[in-house]
Amino acid sequence: MTGRAMEAGREALLTVAGLKKNFGGVKALEKLDLTIASGELVGLIGPNGSGKTTAFNLLTGVFKPSGGRIVFRGQEVAGNRPEQNARLGMARTFQNIRLFRDLPVIDNVAVGLHMRHGAGFWPTVLRFPTAARSESKIRERALEVLEILDLRDRAGDLVANLPYGDQRKVEFARALATEPVLLLLDEPSAGMNPHETAELGATISRLHRELGLTIILVEHDMKMIMTHCQRIHVMHQGRILAEGSPMEIQRDPRVIEAYLGRRREGAHAVA
Ligand SMILES: Nc1ncnc2c1ncn2[C@@H]1O[C@H](COP(=O)(O)OP(=O)(O)O)[C@@H](O)[C@H]1O
Ligand SMILES: [Mg+2]
Repeated sequence: MTGRAMEAGREALLTVAGLKKNFGGVKALEKLDLTIASGELVGLIGPNGSGKTTAFNLLTGVFKPSGGRIVFRGQEVAGNRPEQNARLGMARTFQNIRLFRDLPVIDNVAVGLHMRHGAGFWPTVLRFPTAARSESKIRERALEVLEILDLRDRAGDLVANLPYGDQRKVEFARALATEPVLLLLDEPSAGMNPHETAELGATISRLHRELGLTIILVEHDMKMIMTHCQRIHVMHQGRILAEGSPMEIQRDPRVIEAYLGRRREGAHAVA
C-alpha cells in the first residue's frame, strides 16, 4: 500500500500494479498502478481517452489485461471472468446506461440479485437475509434497494418511462443489489442536469458512509469529484499522472497541463 491509503492506516482492498491493455496498436493502458484502501471514496479523473473505462473493464473482468496484476481482497483476479469478480464483491455501472428499457424497474434490479451468489458482505443495517433464494424474497430485497435510492414508488414503472436521472439511479440500484464491497461508477452523472447531478453526488456520499462501501468514481463533473472524494487519481495516456487531495490535484501543474493540453488540441477539457 502506498501514499494516503497507507497513512489512513486502512487495509488495501485493491492493488493494481503495472496493468497494461493494448487494442491492436493502441496502448489504452500503458502502466496503471493504483492502491485503494478499504472504505475509501476515490475519484478517478483524466481527459477523454486516458484509459478510465478500460481500467474498469480490466478490473471487472470484461477484458483480459495484456500484462500486470490486479489483487482484490488478497486474491489475484487479473484474467477472471466478470461473474467471478461479481461474486467476490465487485459491481459497476456503465458509462452508457445498460438497462432493459421495456421491463419494470424492479425486474432490472432483480437481475443484480439473481447474479449474486454466496454470503452477503453488507453490514446488518439492511437486514438482508443471507440466503434469499425465492423470487418473493428477491423482489422484497429489490424493493429495499430501491427504497435506499428513493425509487420505491417507481418499482412497477417501465424503465423507458422514467426520467433520465432516475434511469441512472436504477443502474445504480442494480449494482447495489449485488451487495458489493467495491463499487465502480463510470460517469454516473452523464446526461444529468445540475440538480440531478448534485443529488446523485449526495446519494453516492451517503451510501459510502452508511454502507461502508469502497467506491471508485469516474466522473467528469469536477464539482462532484472535488466535493465528495477524499483522494483523487488523475490518469493521462494510460498511466496515473498524479494522486492527491482535491486541493492538491487542483493546484498540480501536471494536471492543469494535461487538461489544458487537450483543450489546445480542441478536445474536451475535462474527463
Ligand atoms: N474496445 C476497444 N477497442 C479499441 N480501442 C479501445 C477500446 N476501448 C478503448 N479503446 C481505446 O483506448 C483508449 C482509452 O479509452 P477509454 O478507456 O475509453 O478512455 P476514457 O474512459 O478515459 O475516456 C482510447 O484511445 C480508446 O479509443
Ligand atoms: Mg470512459
